[in-house]
Amino acid sequence: MGDFATGVTVITTNDDDGNPHSMTANSFTSVCLDPPVVLVCVAHGTNTYGFLESTGRFGVNILSQNQQELGALFARKPEDRDEGVQYNYTLGEAGVPILEGSMVFFGCEVLDSHVYGDHTIYIGEVKEMLRNESKEPLMFFRSRWYNPGK
Ligand SMILES: Cc1cc2nc3c(=O)[nH]c(=O)nc-3n(C[C@H](O)[C@H](O)[C@H](O)COP(=O)(O)O)c2cc1C
Repeated sequence: MGDFATGVTVITTNDDDGNPHSMTANSFTSVCLDPPVVLVCVAHGTNTYGFLESTGRFGVNILSQNQQELGALFARKPEDRDEGVQYNYTLGEAGVPILEGSMVFFGCEVLDSHVYGDHTIYIGEVKEMLRNESKEPLMFFRSRWYNPGK
């Protein structure tokens, strides 16, 4: 799978206290356009899995080239995340946190989910979309960031 070059997203959810939570993910794809539906695969060992199960909502923030540091930050467990890295959230119409500075944001409601092995596939209907056309995408390839902007 490492030979399949992808973009990089951060999946945003709300934790049990309602605070924003983020996780880096590249298992994101479009499912259909009408209605607008996307999917993401979430490992059962992640915090995000528990938060998605309880809230039924998630955000997909497609990272731009200048957010590589955030991609690396949110790939770590919360207890290992560097507190010095700066980022901000706003709240989307779908009640999902938006990671500021991302290229695209989709606010999604879970329509369906399927368990396969150690992951669950979440199928989400896009309720909100924000797009910043001036940004270029961060990419991931062979276990490394692929960032022409750096
Ligand atoms: C480029 C990249 C892509 C990733 N994609 C996924 C993914 O699609 N699904 C997943 O469950 N974890 C993925 N991960 C791993 C999670 O980001 C990592 O387990 C994270 O610590 C989970 O955070 P959480 O437990 O606080 O939710 C990816 C990591 C990287 C670096």
